[in-house]
Amino acid sequence: MCGIVGYLGKRKAYPVLINGLKRLEYRGYDSAGVAMINDQGQLNVYKTKGKVSDLEAYASDKDLTGTVGIAHTRWATHGEPNSVNAHPHFSASGNLAIIHNGIIENYAVLKKQLMEKGVEFKSNTDTEVLIQLIEYIQTSKHTDLLTAVRMALHTVIGAYAIAVLDRNNPDQIIAARKSSPLVVGIGEDEFFLGSDASPIIEYTKKVIYLDDKDIAIIRRGEDVKIVDFYNEELKHDVTEVALDLAQIEKGGYPHFMLKEINEQPDCLMDCMSGRVNVDVNNVVLSAVIDHRQRLVDARRFIIVACGTSWHAGLIGKQLIEDICHVPCEVEYASEFRYRNPVINSTDVVIAISQSGETADTLAAVELAKQKGAFIYGICNAIGSSIPRATHTGSYIHVGPEIGVASTKAFTGQVTVLTMLALALGKERGTIDQQKYVNLLHELHDIPEKMKTLLQQCTDNIHEIAKIFTYARNFLYLGRGYNYPVALEGALKLKEISYIHAEGYPAAEMKHGPIALIDEEMPVVVVATKNVLYEKVLSNIQEIKARHARVIALVNEGDETIKRMADAVIELPQTQECLEPLLATIPLQLMAYFIAVCKGKDVDQPRNLAKSVTVE
Ligand code: AGP
Ligand code: GLU
Repeated sequence: MCGIVGYLGKRKAYPVLINGLKRLEYRGYDSAGVAMINDQGQLNVYKTKGKVSDLEAYASDKDLTGTVGIAHTRWATHGEPNSVNAHPHFSASGNLAIIHNGIIENYAVLKKQLMEKGVEFKSNTDTEVLIQLIEYIQTSKHTDLLTAVRMALHTVIGAYAIAVLDRNNPDQIIAARKSSPLVVGIGEDEFFLGSDASPIIEYTKKVIYLDDKDIAIIRRGEDVKIVDFYNEELKHDVTEVALDLAQIEKGGYPHFMLKEINEQPDCLMDCMSGRVNVDVNNVVLSAVIDHRQRLVDARRFIIVACGTSWHAGLIGKQLIEDICHVPCEVEYASEFRYRNPVINSTDVVIAISQSGETADTLAAVELAKQKGAFIYGICNAIGSSIPRATHTGSYIHVGPEIGVASTKAFTGQVTVLTMLALALGKERGTIDQQKYVNLLHELHDIPEKMKTLLQQCTDNIHEIAKIFTYARNFLYLGRGYNYPVALEGALKLKEISYIHAEGYPAAEMKHGPIALIDEEMPVVVVATKNVLYEKVLSNIQEIKARHARVIALVNEGDETIKRMADAVIELPQTQECLEPLLATIPLQLMAYFIAVCKGKDVDQPRNLAKSVTVE
């Protein structure tokens, strides 16, 4: 989720806000905006689609006076990226303006209630619902702004960091957070606000990191006051930021790729938020509710995608066939688009794309549409071409992915495919209730297991990477659900370290690749304890007999493979179909550390582009 900046003090607010937005550009975003109370006490909002530089150009001939303001870079989750949906959003009276990072999950219900009361909306965002709700409470209950914010936040479900500006109270900013970071910077007679410390630290190193459910009241001439949702005052330490700017832009990580690998537990929680409900044992995807019959009646699914997204598709195929008992094919979009495929009106084509702009996938979507298929998109970039070209779909909601090598988008895609298979399996009656409940609980627990895995395996993998950096070729093996994991591990290594790597289903090894195996060729084997474990064990023996070094991914406590392999990475136990979500993590890390050891440009590998908009 994207960027927040705020300023209240003695300087002109605009340069601080714009500068701050530029500091946050590393997060990736689709539009930007500012709200300021000018010297005459008017509340002005300027916003535009595109970059911060576009906002600057747009605002250049406007009134930019004032010493208080809030600013935002948006990564759209609800509503297309355009200037209307960009933040800040006004309340109906134009007295309040809000910026928001995150997602208001129950926005649809709240919006309906407000519309019934006569509130009119300008944008499609969840954020506007929140500011309209705040103002509605303020006017209908005759409360002050703080009380209205508190009451609104009691009603709202979701993740947010917000800042609110009030024309009638020009010496105040009210900010709050839940599950989305927010930092208050404290200078000499001035205050700053940031979604991280990077827009703040060139002005002051003194900050307060807000905790979940904190509301900060920032007022000219007073100390920052922090209260909880019940207006109880909370004490917070002012801390010194130790990081320098360069570090902070990547959240303290040396590369975006490492940051994005480590973000995955949080990203998957965002991805499942409001969709996997363990309290009521339910998985809901709005696309499945809206197009239930079309999806239930599907006689065949065809997944089209490229690269990493295609690997996610291979996992999706197994999930859909296992859980929904309906045939599913997976095709490279580039092949599909040129081979006159047979498509029936009862087919559902699933297009998977992180960027939503991949030319081959888009062309495959257009072709399938012409041939009468129903198209379901699974994308990350909101409002990009593929979601606009499809009939329905689900966003993966993992936030902007900057590293060229895809990491969190892959696990987000697999998570959405799992939710889709579960939601559809239930509608089709092809999964029994016990299995459904077990799987949804296991899926819900994956982020926690991923977090533990990241903590436990990172140093180990760093050491393994140092040992194997010399290799010129790698083989990756896996079976069943872990075969696509092997492919993805090999692709990651190729992309960023430029080491030649091949992924294979383990049993195929004897049909050719075994000829390559010798002491020079490390073999990475995903060997978790599932139905194919014994067979993979035999493969490891065959590899060891040919003196290759084996790096094995095993379940915790697997002593048998520990005795055979040269290096072992332990994975937490989970259901077989969810193993890819965990097994992929060490392979991403291994590719990352090997590339770093080789001194390669991890975030922008040679010859590759983040979105491949050409054939
Ligand atoms: C992933 O690491 C690659 N950069 C690449 O294979 C990518 O997955 C592929 O180009 C598809 O991109 P998309 O998901 O944006 O459509
Ligand atoms: N959900 C909000 C929107 O779509 C905020 C997105 C963000 O975090 O930038 O406008």
